[in-house]
Amino acid sequence: MSEIVLSVDRVSIAFGGVRALSDVSFQARQGEIVGVIGPNGAGKSTLFSVIAGFLRANAGAVTFAGRDLGPLKPDERARIGLVRTWQTPRAFESLTVRENVMAAAIAHGGTMHRADEFVDRLLSETELEGQADDLVTDLPPAFRKRLEIARALARSPRVLLLDEVMAGLTIAEIEALFDLLRRRVAADRLTIILIEHVIRAVRALCERVIVLAGGRIIAEGAAAEVMGSPTVIEAYLGSAEYLKRRDT
Ligand SMILES: Nc1ncnc2c1ncn2[C@@H]1O[C@H](COP(=O)(O)OP(=O)(O)OP(=O)(O)O)[C@@H](O)[C@H]1O
Ligand SMILES: [Mg+2]
Repeated sequence: MSEIVLSVDRVSIAFGGVRALSDVSFQARQGEIVGVIGPNGAGKSTLFSVIAGFLRANAGAVTFAGRDLGPLKPDERARIGLVRTWQTPRAFESLTVRENVMAAAIAHGGTMHRADEFVDRLLSETELEGQADDLVTDLPPAFRKRLEIARALARSPRVLLLDEVMAGLTIAEIEALFDLLRRRVAADRLTIILIEHVIRAVRALCERVIVLAGGRIIAEGAAAEVMGSPTVIEAYLGSAEYLKRRDT
């Protein structure tokens, strides 16, 4: 089996009285695609923020490539290969698509040397060549999602945390994204952890799925198994959305 690249150990965090994560532990291996699912408010995005260093856990540790990340800031984590996207796109509105990807590449410490070539390759990979010179503010939502991925890939991640990048995309767009992500995993041994409500994506892409509810991991295992488990279905009960989404 491949080496463990990311390890989350007994992480807890509270916001005032809300325990957003309680004693969460899991590991991800190199070249693996892991899904994180769970009802709204389960703590999924908070988990990404803790892993990527945007929030400090009250307890627990995150280890990346054998290194305890301790107080490392988000940028420092990104520089060593731990990169996240945001549920709400964060690209610079007043810049073009190309400028945004370039800014991410340079922020990551890339030199201008061959930066154009690198950015062109990313734009082509994420099928954004046609929008390269468009302002972000003019982009339809599906393109913004792809731009978030392009900006994340510009940082040459070893572990990529994707927070609901498929929401709002058509089935054809989702399938194209599957190909892109699978190619990266195969070519670079990239590890992807994806939070996703699009169940079709979780089923198609993830070997392993983690289910969060109320800040705790309530199930973990093979996608088909986990998504059919009574505990998981119960956690979503009242969430008509799950039953609707389960078959999409
Ligand atoms: N910065 C914050 N301050 C206070 N409470 C927060 C903060 N961020 C998250 N929370 C709370 O923590 C809990 C987990 O939120 P989180 O955004 O991680 O859920 P989620 O699983 O990503 O949900 P969704 O599927 O809706 O995106 C929720 O109760 C939320 O209201
Ligand atoms: Mg979220």
